[in-house]
Amino acid sequence: MSEYIGVLTAGGDSPGLNAAIRGLGKAAWNNYQIEVIGFRDGFRGLMENRFIRLDKARLSGILTIGGTILGTSRDKPDKMPFGNKYTDMTDVIVENYHKHHLDALVCIGGGGTQKNAYLLMQKGLNIITLPKTIDNDVAMTDASFGFDTALGIAAESIDRLHSTAHSHHRIIIVEIMGHQAGWLALGAGVSGGADVILIPEIPYDIKIVADSILKRVKNGSNFSIVAVAEGAISKQAYLKGREKSEKGADDGKNAKSKKEKNQVIQICGSIKLARKLEEMTNLESRVTILGHLQRGGVPSAYDRLLATRLGTACADYISKGMFGIMVGAKGETTVPVPLEKVAGKRKTVPLDHDWITSARAVGTCLGD
Ligand code: F6P
Repeated sequence: MSEYIGVLTAGGDSPGLNAAIRGLGKAAWNNYQIEVIGFRDGFRGLMENRFIRLDKARLSGILTIGGTILGTSRDKPDKMPFGNKYTDMTDVIVENYHKHHLDALVCIGGGGTQKNAYLLMQKGLNIITLPKTIDNDVAMTDASFGFDTALGIAAESIDRLHSTAHSHHRIIIVEIMGHQAGWLALGAGVSGGADVILIPEIPYDIKIVADSILKRVKNGSNFSIVAVAEGAISKQAYLKGREKSEKGADDGKNAKSKKEKNQVIQICGSIKLARKLEEMTNLESRVTILGHLQRGGVPSAYDRLLATRLGTACADYISKGMFGIMVGAKGETTVPVPLEKVAGKRKTVPLDHDWITSARAVGTCLGD
């Protein structure tokens, strides 16, 4: 049986991280007498051997606190930044894991972390992961903690923007996080009653968006709320990007073309979108970028519950010697998902998803 494990949090912080650390630490000690140490700032802290003992006192009082008591970073084991240079530090990480005589390492994170964790698993470490992200795009789990809190914040923001948009007869574009997946913009847009919702999965036609706003004006509503995901892209830019990557032969695999791809996405930024819609509709437009407000603060009750469930289940799996897995949420229970099924995958919004069908049914314009 395992007796000593490590945990780290990596990638963008997410409400519920502390609840997960607490759930894991308390269940590991209370049920199996397994001690837990926490590495600071993601994979970087493990590489630099910076850690804290997660004893009873350290785990107390953290359930409701946002962020992560361990700190986080986006540094990858095989591309660790040192100034302007990147170095593969995987071997040092493996060495430190063994120095501590760890029986397992728990990596809590989103899509990038799952990939990095899988890499360490391939180096022979006992790895187990938990899914967290406000983007809700980790594959093979019904839910990731952080999403529900961010959804509440984004929906409440849309509620608040309604009264000011209405009073000033304006279009308000509200930019919501999500570069590759539109769950947050779609969920907040539907629950906040946005008039237009633009997500990366559905490249939009600006003319269709403008026409839908003008139709509202004709029907007596001379204001509109446009919920737009960070990664939403116009049809035009999407086709241009595809053409570029087809021509580029590398198909987006090298750093330069990836950068170019992102630039194409940025072309359709919210400010440009606002200017264009102002021109096309004659309605004054404003932009609100919610940014990191969506990730900060107290986790919702749902996220605390989910994170606690996943954290405590993780201790159970470790006690059974089950490694190389992500603890996924499936309905009312948790399931062990082989890491190779998660790493490098992304859960985007299926075009026939209920939320999309419902949005269309209540008359929301999705830009297509
Ligand atoms: O962690 C996910 C996320 O919040 C995305 O929604 C967003 O695009 C990104 O992180 C922002 O990253 P950073 O905090 O590093 O600017």
